[in-house]
Amino acid sequence: MKSDKKLIDENGKRLDGRGPDQLRNIKIEAGVLHRADGSCYLEWGGNKVIAAVYGPREAIPKHTQNPLKAIVKARYNMAAFSVDDRKRPGPDRRSQEISKVTSEALEKIVLTDQFPRAAIDVNIEVLDAEAGTRCAGLTAAGVALADAGIPMRDIPVACAAGKIGAENNDGMFSGGFVVLDLGKEEDNFGNADLPIAIAPRTNDIILLQMDGHLTFDEFEHALDLAMKGCQEISKLQKEALLRRYKSDVEVEE
Ligand code: CDP
Repeated sequence: MKSDKKLIDENGKRLDGRGPDQLRNIKIEAGVLHRADGSCYLEWGGNKVIAAVYGPREAIPKHTQNPLKAIVKARYNMAAFSVDDRKRPGPDRRSQEISKVTSEALEKIVLTDQFPRAAIDVNIEVLDAEAGTRCAGLTAAGVALADAGIPMRDIPVACAAGKIGAENNDGMFSGGFVVLDLGKEEDNFGNADLPIAIAPRTNDIILLQMDGHLTFDEFEHALDLAMKGCQEISKLQKEALLRRYKSDVEVEE
């Protein structure tokens, strides 16, 4: 949708007071569920997401098994109460798409050849949605996989950048600004959104989607911002895992 709302002012200040290259607040907690092999609770702005990992375990039904490697099955689900208009429960085209791209991204990073014929199930439940839930879900999944002790090349992390419009003083639409981590209004009324996921040690891209239009220069700028955002979030993931590990050690002592 084209911007008819002032999403950013002349000084680059956004509706929620953030600057162009600032993330929303992020809180990550690892190991929140007792029955899962690994889990994570993540808050990202107004998003609240839980990821639970089960496996590696025998893939069922058997015809889904790959004799050479494990399959990674991510299932993204939005709770009916997570959005303003109640969402019809169950899978829809959007959740199937997000599940598919998330599974493909995670498969690139998990050392699947160590577990032939197995399945690694990654359940992502969105409890509260406020734009950017696929990035929040994948970031939580990365922590939950690490918490489960699944061997991986790296801990995957996701973040988006996008373009939002701006009005000048006469209320005329003028160009647009590339900014990090679109909020709800920005996502609804902005011009473009570019979610990515990476392996943070090498900056290898494991997911890249784009909604809307960007010029080549804007694309490069947005990609650079999203990469930097990923690096910032990667630190928070590792801190959460260390906190979890330390609390386990303290309990044992
Ligand atoms: O969440 P993400 O940005 O990854 O995906 P999207 O398809 O671009 O959705 C953007 C936002 O729209 C979501 O985060 C929700 O806040 C909202 N949404 C909604 O209100 N109702 C839906 N059925 C789906 C999404």
